[in-house]
Amino acid sequence: MHFSSGSLPSVVALTVFLARASVYAHPHSFAIWAADSAIARGQGNGLDSNGEPTDSYEHGELQWGLRLLYETTGNESYFNYIVQGASQIVDSKGDIEGGYSIVAYSQDPIRTGPTFAYLYERTGQSKWKIAMDTYHQQLMGQPRTAEGQFWHKLIYYNQGWLDGIYMGEVFYTVYTNTFQPTNATAYADIAKQFDLMFQNTIQKKGVANYTGLMYHGYDYSHTASWASEDRGHSPEVWIRALGWYMMALVDILEIYPEDNSIFLDHLNTLVPRVRDAADPDSGVWWLVMTQPGRAGNYFESSGSAMFVYAMLKAVRLGYVVDNNGSIVKAATKAYQYMIDNWVVDNRDGTMDWLNTVLVGSLDGNGTFEYYTSIEVDTNDLKGLAAFLLASLEYETL
Ligand SMILES: *[C@@H]1O[C@H](CO)[C@@H](O)[C@H](O)[C@H]1NC(C)=O
Ligand SMILES: *[C@@H]1O[C@H](CO)[C@@H](O)[C@H](O)[C@H]1NC(C)=O
Ligand SMILES: *[C@@H]1O[C@H](CO)[C@@H](O)[C@H](O)[C@H]1NC(C)=O
Ligand SMILES: *[C@@H]1O[C@H](CO)[C@@H](O)[C@H](O)[C@H]1NC(C)=O
Ligand SMILES: *[C@@H]1O[C@H](CO)[C@@H](O)[C@H](O)[C@H]1NC(C)=O
Repeated sequence: MHFSSGSLPSVVALTVFLARASVYAHPHSFAIWAADSAIARGQGNGLDSNGEPTDSYEHGELQWGLRLLYETTGNESYFNYIVQGASQIVDSKGDIEGGYSIVAYSQDPIRTGPTFAYLYERTGQSKWKIAMDTYHQQLMGQPRTAEGQFWHKLIYYNQGWLDGIYMGEVFYTVYTNTFQPTNATAYADIAKQFDLMFQNTIQKKGVANYTGLMYHGYDYSHTASWASEDRGHSPEVWIRALGWYMMALVDILEIYPEDNSIFLDHLNTLVPRVRDAADPDSGVWWLVMTQPGRAGNYFESSGSAMFVYAMLKAVRLGYVVDNNGSIVKAATKAYQYMIDNWVVDNRDGTMDWLNTVLVGSLDGNGTFEYYTSIEVDTNDLKGLAAFLLASLEYETL
C-alpha cells in the first residue's frame, strides 16, 4: 500500500506527537528530572529518615551532581539545596555533626568534603574550612598498610576497598589544591592510593572468570575470611565498588594538577574492559561481574550508571581515545536501557529509579551468595545520584 496523499501519515504523526507530549509532562532533561525528584522527596538533604542530621557519602555524591547541574542550568535552587543539606551537618563553628567521629577513621563521611570545599570557595565562610581541616586531619592520621594504603576504616584492619578511593581521594585532592598547592608529597600520596589499590585488586589473566577488572578490595594482612591466599584480594568483582573507582578516576583527572599518567593508565586499562563486560543484549552490567548469567545475579543500576558517567566523561575530556566509537556506543546503549527499564514516570512530575542494590560490604564473607542476598531498593540515592551524573554526561553528547 502506498500513500500518495500526506494526510494519513500526518494524522499518525500528530497522534504520536500528542502521546509523546503527555508522556513527557516532566522535564526534557533526565538530569533535571532525577535531581528535581530527589529534591521533591527530600533526599540528600543532610537528614536521615528520622529527620536527624546524617553525614552521608550518598548525600555528598548527590551534591556533586547538583553542583554540576547548577553550573549547567544556572538554577539557584540546586545551589541552595546544597547549602541547606551541608548546613545540617556543619554547625556555625565548623563542627561536623551527623554521627561523624574522627577516631572511627572511616573514609565514607569524607565524601561530603568536596561539598564543604565548594561552599568555602563560593562563600568564604570559615566554618567550611574548619570542617575541611577536620577531615584532612583525619586523613593525616588515617591508619595505613605497610605499603601506605589508607585502611577503609579503623575496624577494617589492613583493608583497602575500592569504595574508599571515591570517598577519600577526591577530597584529599581538592583540599591540597586549595590549601597546599605546592605540596608534592600530598600529590604523590594521592596517586599512590590509587596505584596500590589497583595493583592489589586488578584481576590477573589466567584466573577463572577473567574480566581484567578490579576485585572489591584486599586485606594486606591476608587475615580476612575472604582474602585470597596469593594476593589477599576479595573473591568477586562487585559492580558498585568498580563504579566508585571509575568515577574517582575521571573526577580526579579533572582536578589533579601534577603528572596524571597513573590515572590515565588505570582508566585506559579499565574502560575497554568495562565496555567488553557489558551484557551483549541489554548493554548494562551484572551485579557480580565475575559471574555473568549465574542464577541470582542481575543487572544492577547504580554501578551501570556510574560506568556510563565515567566512560562518557573519559571520552569527552580526551582521557581515553574512542577510536572506533565503541566506548560511546556502549555507554549510550546502556543509557537507553536505563531510561527504558529503570526510570518510572510517577505522573506527578517525579520519577522513580529502580534496581539499586542497598549495600555491598566486605564486612561479611564477600561471596556471590552474599552480594546477591542483599535487597535492591527504589530511589536509592547511590544509584539515583549516579543516574543524575550519567544523564549530565549523556545530555552533553
Ligand atoms: C529550578 O529548580 C527548581 C527545583 O528543582 C524547580 O522547581 C524550578 O522550576 C527550576 N527553575 C527554573 C527557572 O527552571
Ligand atoms: C604535605 O602533605 C603531607 C602528606 O599529605 C603532609 O604530611 C605534610 O604535612 C604536608 N606539608 C605541608 C607543608 O603542608
Ligand atoms: C564462574 O562463573 C560461573 C557463572 O557465570 C559460575 O557458575 C562459577 O562458579 C564461576 N567460577 C568461579 C571460580 O568463580
Ligand atoms: C573497536 O576497537 C576495539 C579495540 O580497540 C575492538 O575490541 C572493538 O571490537 C572495536 N569495535 C567495533 C565496533 O569495531
Ligand atoms: C556467605 O554469606 C551468605 C549470606 O550473607 C551466606 O548465604 C553464605 O552461605 C555464606 N557463605 C559462606 C561460604 O560462608
